[in-house]
Amino acid sequence: MFDTMTMVKAFGWLCGALLIYLLINWAGESLYAMDAGGHGEEGEEHPQGYAIAVEDTGGGDAAEEDSGPSFEEVFAAADAGKGERVFGKCKACHKLDGTDGTGPHLNGVVGRAIGGVDGFGYSDVMASHGGEWTPEVLSEFLANPKGYMSGTKMSFAGLRKIEDRANVIAYLQAAQ
Ligand code: HEC
Repeated sequence: MFDTMTMVKAFGWLCGALLIYLLINWAGESLYAMDAGGHGEEGEEHPQGYAIAVEDTGGGDAAEEDSGPSFEEVFAAADAGKGERVFGKCKACHKLDGTDGTGPHLNGVVGRAIGGVDGFGYSDVMASHGGEWTPEVLSEFLANPKGYMSGTKMSFAGLRKIEDRANVIAYLQAAQ
């Protein structure tokens, strides 16, 4: 009788311990998941943090692009129709009808002087940059605007996909 009681108690303890162990494990896992989620959100909320992340992975992307097709190759096969959809991300600030908004009008921007719209209040860095917007320069700028031109007023995180950049540039080229 006594022995049976001891065994039942021991079994009870074992079950309890196992339950606690599982609970701790579960709590630890959900804590970890929360932590990881938190970082993602933080990155999106703070443009600066996000820009650094883009720069970090930018190196990886560049390496990938080295082994993959070059911008010229992707641009040669670009689809202006798809670019129109990408341009949805620019519409809040840029128009294609010759009028300026938060950003300068972008009709005719391919081949135009950088910072070349008369009367638009560019940042100093863009106004004094010099050169012209070739498709290649546009692609580098659009990949990471603040990384390419530190101090630009354009608050846009960038287009990470080379296809998106090629397509939107093809669309802009058609909008003369
Ligand atoms: C939140 C507003 C905003 C968004 C979104 C935005 N831009 Fe801009 N863009 C600007 C501003 C402001 C400038 C002027 C920057 C400066 O003076 O430094 C600018 C400048 C530019 C220029 C240089 C034009 C020139 O005349 O030299 C190009 C090209 C450009 N943007 C392309 C794009 C494209 C393409 C997109 C979408 C993929 C985009 N921008 C999204 C605000 C924006």
